[in-house]
Amino acid sequence: MNGLRQTMAWAGAGLVIAAHALAAQAAPLAGDAAAGQAQFATCTRCHRVGPGARSGFGPQLNGIVGRRAGSLSDFNYSPALKQSQLVWTRERLAAFIKNPDQVVPGNRMRFASWGYDDQKIANLVAYLASFPAER
Ligand code: HEC
Repeated sequence: MNGLRQTMAWAGAGLVIAAHALAAQAAPLAGDAAAGQAQFATCTRCHRVGPGARSGFGPQLNGIVGRRAGSLSDFNYSPALKQSQLVWTRERLAAFIKNPDQVVPGNRMRFASWGYDDQKIANLVAYLASFPAER
């Protein structure tokens, strides 16, 4: 009986250690979604995100992390973005937000967040990642 209890204690400790290891791995890209909402204000000129968001001047951004680039049927993309074959990971989004032309040369998004440091961009990506795709 004692042996079993000890085994379970060890298993529990192992889970805690595993969870910490995962958290440490994600650390470099950790962003603060609540803070990122403020950064998104510069995007709302052209983009919408959240329940019921529709594409306008720019494509709506629900479920953007993991979404194939240029894949919405309700937006008329540039050939460059449509044919890019990219999937938006957090890293790729951060790079695109910083300098769209470097990630997808010839795309039509005329905006670059030159003034954002990496933390602000990570916050913005975390904010966007909090909106699931809608069907
Ligand atoms: C001046 C308008 C404008 C602003 C401001 C703007 N965008 Fe865009 N964005 C666009 C347009 C237009 C496209 C489509 C480009 C194309 O088809 O080549 C686009 C495309 C994108 C895409 C690719 C979407 C997809 O479906 O593949 C992402 C992601 C994106 N924008 C994020 C942002 C973020 C985040 C911001 C704010 C930091 C921002 N944009 C600011 C106009 C804008």
